[in-house]
Amino acid sequence: MTVRILGIETSCDETAAAVVEEGVEILSNVIASQSEIHAQYGGIFPEMASRAHIETIHKVIASALAQAHVSLDDISAISVTRGPGLAGSLLVGLNAAKGLALARRLPLIGINHLEGHICSLQITENTHEVEFPILALIVSGGHTEMILVEEQLKYQRLGGTLDDAAGEAFDKVGRLLGLPYPGGPNVEEAAKGGNPDAFDFPRAWMDNSWDFSFSGLKTAVMRAVQQRFPEWDTGRDPSSVNLPIADLAASFQSAIIEVLKEKSVQAAEKHKARAIFVSGGVSANLALCAAITKRAGEIPVYHPPGHLCTDNAAMIAAAGYWRYQAGQRDGWDLDARPTWPLI
Ligand code: KG4
Ligand code: ZN
Repeated sequence: MTVRILGIETSCDETAAAVVEEGVEILSNVIASQSEIHAQYGGIFPEMASRAHIETIHKVIASALAQAHVSLDDISAISVTRGPGLAGSLLVGLNAAKGLALARRLPLIGINHLEGHICSLQITENTHEVEFPILALIVSGGHTEMILVEEQLKYQRLGGTLDDAAGEAFDKVGRLLGLPYPGGPNVEEAAKGGNPDAFDFPRAWMDNSWDFSFSGLKTAVMRAVQQRFPEWDTGRDPSSVNLPIADLAASFQSAIIEVLKEKSVQAAEKHKARAIFVSGGVSANLALCAAITKRAGEIPVYHPPGHLCTDNAAMIAAAGYWRYQAGQRDGWDLDARPTWPLI
């Protein structure tokens, strides 16, 4: 029997549902983004996120089934993000998944969002045939994690950020420079016209560990901005002054990329990884992936196409496939786990 999983993801500000066949083939991948709502506030407003999920979740699920040309009768199980994420947002997806699973007597499978990012590897490559171990670098708005994937669903955590996540640093710097939310893609765009050596921003190497720290880098960018624009926190629009935005963005991006690149390749070499997989929203940054690929030499580097880098439900359905095959079945008491480490 063909295994077809309906995946549901509402951990943050994307309401998403997808149908994935045999863990690799995406039949549909529907995402209702809330970024326009949150852009007004310059960041995610949790209560607004939950309300927007409530308004769209059923339409998104119906579209995912329709676009896949399947009904719930063709679905083997429902997988849903259980955490980590915003509690109120997670609950919307969980309750929708539980309701459908209960009504249709379908297995329910709770998924760790980070595992979803890792399992986007097979939908990216469209094959089960990947060789382990794999060094997974998950870089998103909420996470910066370096995980050794020893085999499917078996992980060793090597390190992670001790303060800001990489995407959070991009978003905060974007805000400092007066760029629209979310900062990441806009900082990448602004950096294209800038000189990466214009500002000598710090790199926190965190010697003898695989951990990261990005708050010092963010503070250094803030100081550079304040030197030229002392009243930046008065609500005045930074674009109203003559800030060297392209050079600041390029120098910041170069600093963050250098640390992510060096540490991930060194960890891959140390653990004899057969490949490096960069996932999470920040992996949409082409300069980051190009830098890691160049530095990794013989080690292949994979990263998902843009729509699978940022949060989506295809990755939750893909993780659901592996968990389904491993025999995981959750009960109706499945709860949200807003802070849930992968291991
Ligand atoms: O994985 P994701 O959609 O949500 C979380 O789980 O956090 O990641 C969103 C993050 C945001 O911080 C966003 O600014 C960042 O990914 N991002 C980027 C780029 N595209 C999205 N950061 C740097 N460069 C990009 N091109
Ligand atoms: Zn994510």
